[in-house]
Order: sequence, then C-alpha cells, then structure tokens
Amino acid sequence: MLKGKKILIGITGSIAAYKTITLVRLLIKAGAEVKVVMTPAAREFASPVVLSTLSKNTVIHDLVEGDAWSNHVMLGRWADVMLIAPLSCNTLAKMANGLCDNVLLAVYLSATCPVVIAPAMDEDMWHHPSTKRNLVQLVKDGNHLIEVGKGELASGLFGDGRMAEPEEIGQYLIENFFRTDELKGQKAMVTAGPTYEAIDPVRFIGNHSSGKMGFAIAEELYLRGADVTLITGPTSQQTNYKGITIKPVVSADDMYNAAVAAFDGAAIAVMSAAVADYKPVLASQEKIKKKQDEWSIELVKNKDILHQLGQQKKKGQFLLGFALETNNEKENALSKLKAKNADGIVLNSLNDKDAGFGVDTNTVTIFHQSGEEMKVALKSKKEVATDIVSFIIKHLHV
Ligand code: PMT
Repeated sequence: MLKGKKILIGITGSIAAYKTITLVRLLIKAGAEVKVVMTPAAREFASPVVLSTLSKNTVIHDLVEGDAWSNHVMLGRWADVMLIAPLSCNTLAKMANGLCDNVLLAVYLSATCPVVIAPAMDEDMWHHPSTKRNLVQLVKDGNHLIEVGKGELASGLFGDGRMAEPEEIGQYLIENFFRTDELKGQKAMVTAGPTYEAIDPVRFIGNHSSGKMGFAIAEELYLRGADVTLITGPTSQQTNYKGITIKPVVSADDMYNAAVAAFDGAAIAVMSAAVADYKPVLASQEKIKKKQDEWSIELVKNKDILHQLGQQKKKGQFLLGFALETNNEKENALSKLKAKNADGIVLNSLNDKDAGFGVDTNTVTIFHQSGEEMKVALKSKKEVATDIVSFIIKHLHV
C-alpha cells in the first residue's frame, strides 16, 4: 500500500515515543521509506539505534553531527508527508511560535510537504489555555491534527492526552495522503457480517459471520479511491477509515432496504454478507417461556437481496456475489452466478482449512460471467480483498 511513499517522522520528548517505534515498523512493513528526526529530549525516550535499525536509515538528531551539517532543507523536501509523533507540549509551543533551536524544528520550518501532528501530554497540560491557543495556531498554519485519545496517562491519571495508537496513525496517513484514484468518483456498496432474525426479544437465528471479509473489501475499495457505503449486520468489527459510510443493520429485511437504496448510483456492489435465508413468521414481543419438551418455529423465506439487485442492475454496474458452499462447490457457485444475474461470484468453500467464518485468512475462487476463473490462494483477508478489488477493477465497465 505504501510502496515508494516517503514518510519523515519527527519524534519529541514524550513517553509515547515507544508507540512511534511500532509505527515505524508498521510503515516499513507496508512498503514506505521512512526517515526519522529527533529532538535532543526524544533520545531519552526512544533509542536512535532501534529507530535507525527499523527505518533502515540514519536517525538525525543534531543540526551538526561530527563535522557534517544536517541538510534539514532537503529532508523537508524529500518527504511526501512529515509526521510529528509524539508532539510534546514544549515542541508544540515552539512550532506555534516559529522557534528553531533544534534540528526537528529546522526540518519542520523547511518542510514543503503536508505536516501531520499527533500530540501527547498529560491532561492538565493538554487542557491548558496556552496549549489550546498554540494548537489553534498550528492548525491555522495548515498542519493536520490527529486528536489525542482518552485513557491512562504516564502520570497514572486517567484523562485526555494519550497519543493515537500506531495503527490509527498509519491509517490516518493512508486515508488522507495515499489513497489511489483508480476508483475515484465511483460509488461502491458492500454488505458484510451476519443478519439476526428475531424469535423473541432475547433469541434470534443468526450465523458465524464476523464481518472481517466484508470490512476488508470495503476498506480496499475505499483505499482505491471509491466512495464506500458499508452495510453491516451485527459485528464487533470496526474501521478507522472515517470516510467509509457505515450503515448498521440487524435483520435481512433491514439489509434488503439499505442495500436497495445504496445500489442506486453505485458502480460496484459486493455482497459478502451471510444473510439468513429464513426468518420466523412471527417474532414474539415477549420472551417465550420454557414449557413443552419440543418446540417448532415456523419460518418464512427472506427476500434475496443479491437476486433483487441483479434484477435492478443497469449497464455499467458491477455486481459481485459470494457463494458459501460445503459440497458441489463450483457447480453451486456457477448456478448462483447465473440465477442471480451477477457479474461475478466469489466461492468460499467451508471445506478449506483456515478459510471462511471468523478467521483472519481466506482462500476463494472468483468466477466471472465470461467464464474466467481466478483462484486466490490462502492469505490474509486483507490480501484476499486486494485481489477481489483488482478483479473488479479489471472487469468494471468492460
Ligand atoms: O464474515 P467473515 O467471518 O469474515 O466470513 C466471511 C464469509 C464466509 C461470510 C464470506 O466470505 C461469505 O462467504 N459470504 C457469503 C455467505 C452466504 O450467505 O453465502 P450464500 O451462498 O448463502 O449466499 C449467496 C449470495 O447471496 C451471497 O452473496 C449472499 O450475500 C446473498 N444473499 C443470500 C441470501 C439472501 N436472502 N440475500 C442475499 O443477498
């Protein structure tokens, strides 16, 4: 995702510097080129040796190192984005006033790229009027602020001032600076997770879908530039990408209504939700009491959302279904592809180990209506989502 992207990280003196070590690792793993510049105080909190090893670049912490002058101007021009994390109260105040008494500040003042700040400090310092004043100035100056979180602080107190977590910061950088424009201006909708069909106020018919596959597809579509609506059944999954519109639903009927509304104007629809095929004819308003030894629930078929979208589909819309199968997998998947008038179908076989419900990995086969077949080997659901979205882009509008 970040291959070839140049990220310059400034570290100041704060306990939260330990999180930046993890962040550097995450960014390098995602393919970014990372350089680190530190204030003198930051060296008390994070080791330059660790940071240079992880970033694979010399860490700069002095304006003059040995007999060489650090070229802070070129460093500021080298980067696609500069991130200062953690940003201490002291450096925040200096930046707001244009001071330049260390190399990090010199780089900041020379930077021609966007600058992102992730402050970290104790609650009282965070809420002090001078900090608020300085922060307003920094945002006015064009810096991008990643808000602090609430939680346990280095002082032992609980409150505002925690630096955002490394994953959150990484996703902020990707979302704001590194989305591609492959699907720019295109709307996409994704269904994810299970549906719950109420039996009474405490019981329901559901399934094991965690929503992981659907969330990964929604995020990948978003990172490729699409405007994404994610319609999700009950799940504990979350996304840090603030630009994804989430529509939480509970039952298949709710999902049907949300999907039919979102399909209008969408270029892409991906139906990865595990929708309950049946619901109780009547959902009791009160908890059903335990009485007889046997109990039958009369069920009625739910509306088939994928089938409905297949009927509504207009030229230029790409509709991708899923097929979760336990036997005659290919045959069943192909017959769903045809019966539901989809453009493609992703076969998930429950016979594949480490694939399907709940786990972080998956292996699938994608079938296109033209007869093309693409096998995706076992890998993380994020990577499977990348392959699925590449498949969609290849077949979109052709
Ligand atoms: O959520 P995870 O834990 O990550 O697991 C992912 C997954 C296994 C749920 C996912 O990869 C998957 O296979 N989803 C499809 C599950 C399913 O219900 O398949 P199906 O063969 O029963 O349905 C076929 C297609 O019709 C699906 O696109 C389904 O969303 C759709 N459908 C089904 C019934 C219905 N009433 N309306 C529908 O739109």
